[in-house]
Amino acid sequence: MSPEPFVAIVTDSTDVFKPEIFKGKVLFCTGGGSGICKSMTEAVMRHGANAVIVGRKLDRLTQTSKELSEATGQTCIPAQADVRQPQQLKDAVAKTIEKFGRIDFVICGAAGNFLASIDGMSENAFKTVIEIDTLGTFNTVKATLPHIRASKGSYIHVSATLHYKGTPYQVHVSAAKAGVDALSNVLAVEEGPRGVRSNVIAPGPIGGTEGMSRLSNQTVRKEDGDSRYPLGRMGHLKDVANATVFLFSNAASYVTGQIIPIDGGVEHMRTFQLPYPRAVLDPESVKEMIKPRL
Ligand code: COA
Repeated sequence: MSPEPFVAIVTDSTDVFKPEIFKGKVLFCTGGGSGICKSMTEAVMRHGANAVIVGRKLDRLTQTSKELSEATGQTCIPAQADVRQPQQLKDAVAKTIEKFGRIDFVICGAAGNFLASIDGMSENAFKTVIEIDTLGTFNTVKATLPHIRASKGSYIHVSATLHYKGTPYQVHVSAAKAGVDALSNVLAVEEGPRGVRSNVIAPGPIGGTEGMSRLSNQTVRKEDGDSRYPLGRMGHLKDVANATVFLFSNAASYVTGQIIPIDGGVEHMRTFQLPYPRAVLDPESVKEMIKPRL
């Protein structure tokens, strides 16, 4: 009988890292009102940080701030801003400084997405996603950099893996996220000498997110024993949150200019002619199939 394939555990960062590693620190997170960025914010707060979450919808931000404050015992406040509007971001930063006096960590996470072919997408649709993702990241960096220099802080940009290959109906996001990756690399090199780090987290398919439900008709896939993933399951919000805690922590003090896919290794998988994972777990079972054919 073939051995059972491995399935990666889902864990909390507080089971691995000390609870107060971010005590006195302040996080500024765009796109923090929901989804992946909300759970990244929660994880950082669970280690003692206070947070400001930034987005367009004040009612959602207010509700999320309340939830995160109650869940973590730290303080989270909302700041309404569209990342396409530099002045609104500057106002959000001013609000953060007024409330907390500093910014140590920035998550550039605000993003826009929908499925559309090149043929079926208007020029304005393409431009809109570039403006939110790429220009929005630049605007966020510009607005926060003086404070991140002062605290010798750190950036995490939320990108994607879909632009590593040609993903149909994702030309706008692919172009936008490639720009975000490049921006982070330059930021790491320019600002490293001032003590500022910049890294990218590139989530693969993450279950239960708005992105997954928009981009895939298999909304939430099976979390245990999914043979499409080398680590046996699709991503969990906690996988991204844990990488966030690591990258902001002193354990990552020598890590900058990196792009870290959180995808269970799936990006490296090619379509494999033999049954997977049986062929690697139990080579005997596929012996007949790999016999040379004359
Ligand atoms: N297919 C094709 N084009 C679309 C589209 C879709 N599903 N959604 C928006 N567009 C186009 C619009 O038609 C418009 O182009 P036009 O002026 O030529 O008609 C352009 O994109 C701007 O759209 P608009 O809705 O006016 O912009 P917005 O700034 O209010 O919102 C988004 C842009 C991307 C944020 C919006 O589409 C959205 O709400 N997306 C879902 C939320 C989201 O992306 N969350 C992140 C999940 S990863």
